[in-house]
Amino acid sequence: MPQPPKPITHTDSDPLWFKDAIIYQVHIKSFFDSDGDGYGDFVGLIQKLDYIQSLGITCIWILPFYPSPLKDDGYDIADYEQVNPTYGNLHDFQTFIKEAHQRGLRVITELVINHTSDMHPWFQRARLAEAGSKERDFYVWSDTDQKYKDARIIFCDTEPSNWTWDPVAKAFYWHRFFSHQPDLNFDNPDVLAEVIRVMKHWLDMGVDGLRLDAIPYLIERDGTNCENLPETHVILKELRKAMEDNYESRLFLAEANQWPEDVVEYFGNGDECQMAYHFPVMPRLYLALHQQDSRAIIDIMARTPAIPEQCQWAMFLRNHDELTLEMVTDDERAYMYAAYAEEPRMKINVGIRRRLAPLLKYSRPRIELMNGLVLSLLGTPILYYGDEIGMGDNIQLWDRNGVRTPMQWNCDRNGGFSKAPFANLYSPPLMDIVTGFEAVNVEAQQANPSSLLNWIRAIIDVRKKYKAFGRGTFEAVNNSNHKILSYIRRFEEQTILVVANLAQSAQSVALELAEFKGVSPLEIKGDAVFHEIGDSPYVLTLSPHAFYWLKLDS
Ligand code: BGC
Repeated sequence: MPQPPKPITHTDSDPLWFKDAIIYQVHIKSFFDSDGDGYGDFVGLIQKLDYIQSLGITCIWILPFYPSPLKDDGYDIADYEQVNPTYGNLHDFQTFIKEAHQRGLRVITELVINHTSDMHPWFQRARLAEAGSKERDFYVWSDTDQKYKDARIIFCDTEPSNWTWDPVAKAFYWHRFFSHQPDLNFDNPDVLAEVIRVMKHWLDMGVDGLRLDAIPYLIERDGTNCENLPETHVILKELRKAMEDNYESRLFLAEANQWPEDVVEYFGNGDECQMAYHFPVMPRLYLALHQQDSRAIIDIMARTPAIPEQCQWAMFLRNHDELTLEMVTDDERAYMYAAYAEEPRMKINVGIRRRLAPLLKYSRPRIELMNGLVLSLLGTPILYYGDEIGMGDNIQLWDRNGVRTPMQWNCDRNGGFSKAPFANLYSPPLMDIVTGFEAVNVEAQQANPSSLLNWIRAIIDVRKKYKAFGRGTFEAVNNSNHKILSYIRRFEEQTILVVANLAQSAQSVALELAEFKGVSPLEIKGDAVFHEIGDSPYVLTLSPHAFYWLKLDS
């Protein structure tokens, strides 16, 4: 029988733990099926915690696992306080938290508060309730579909409007995403009170952090684009206060797909979210790689404002969604589509639904370079499950499911993911000749000292030895060659120079490093001492897509 929730303490109490974290993003459904029903589950995830720990990961972010019709893969929540029975129960969840913490792994879960499923009892109650009543006002209603005209449609491939007519309520309801996901009404104080209750429910169980999904859209006002409104920040401050008043060392991670100057608002004065994704830098890593030119990255880093000291950027290459192209210019978007989405099926909404390895044409040097950048550029890196072995995708699957296929463990049936009959699997595993489970799997890569998996482990290990990567400042370093990206990360006594060749040809570069005259840099991945920095610009050569991490302090 499930036990009542018990608070579980962490392995260390540094409130800034997230600054040194290496996060692994995983979907319960996709990782490991312990009971043979074709869906991954918490018991399966627990069995694979040693694997996650062996990668050097320090924190796991799990996608929504709550009861849901699964029309948006669980972001359509029908019950905020339970576990989807396909994935396990609350007892399994608590065991998972305990087992993760025992291995020094923190856990981030999802607090999806912008919207619920239309199957949530709050919505079912609201549509039956009298217009103007508190119950009805849990959601945003209107007699016309003409309000808030300036708000864009996010799921533009499927949704014609942000309003949908409800024949039961005889009114339109507001939704920024799918029409089966009505937006909660944060002008109603009862909604925030309920959200705080839900938040505490999970924090009481020992969850270390909450990803705040789709946070810019909490409030709507006519005459605005209904994003990033001041009232939204008031809500976030209240939520943070409720967390701080009751818990220690917990975290909010903001999902705000916005320009840097708007995202930084989600840090507040250190009194909103501690972390936020750096959405604009992500597509520019791909852009710069394809253009073989560092300027797109340098420019966006220059446009990234300083953030409060106790806050942190979250960096990523891929995730469970499309590679979003909302935070690029129209020209850059056209370039990205031409470069990375040669087939129309690869596009969805405003983005590209592909995984890391296929995006990079399965090139090991490119994959290493991009990981080298995301692990050194700024903030805390997030790795998407399967990318550590170079998993592919299946663009024939609908929506974003092509990048959510089962984890590939070995060459056994269903790639070792599940013992279920093939037809019962939530999704076919990849079986193509390039990235199918026979070609790409954990077991084979564990046995191969030169595999991508072992390379990822090694690079994470190096990164973890230097706090400068998680906590340091970013300073671009001038050099003679636009194909070379060079920057310094500096924290306390530590100074690390990163030099990366974005070109597919060997390059030479002269770096302006006068400040470090007399220093012989140490390349920390290979433990190799380089020639001394002298009076003239420091000249290096790099093979195609090579990068160096050079320690400049002694
Ligand atoms: C999630 C998506 C989801 C959307 C609507 C996003 O922020 O990352 O996967 O479809 O919210 O719920």
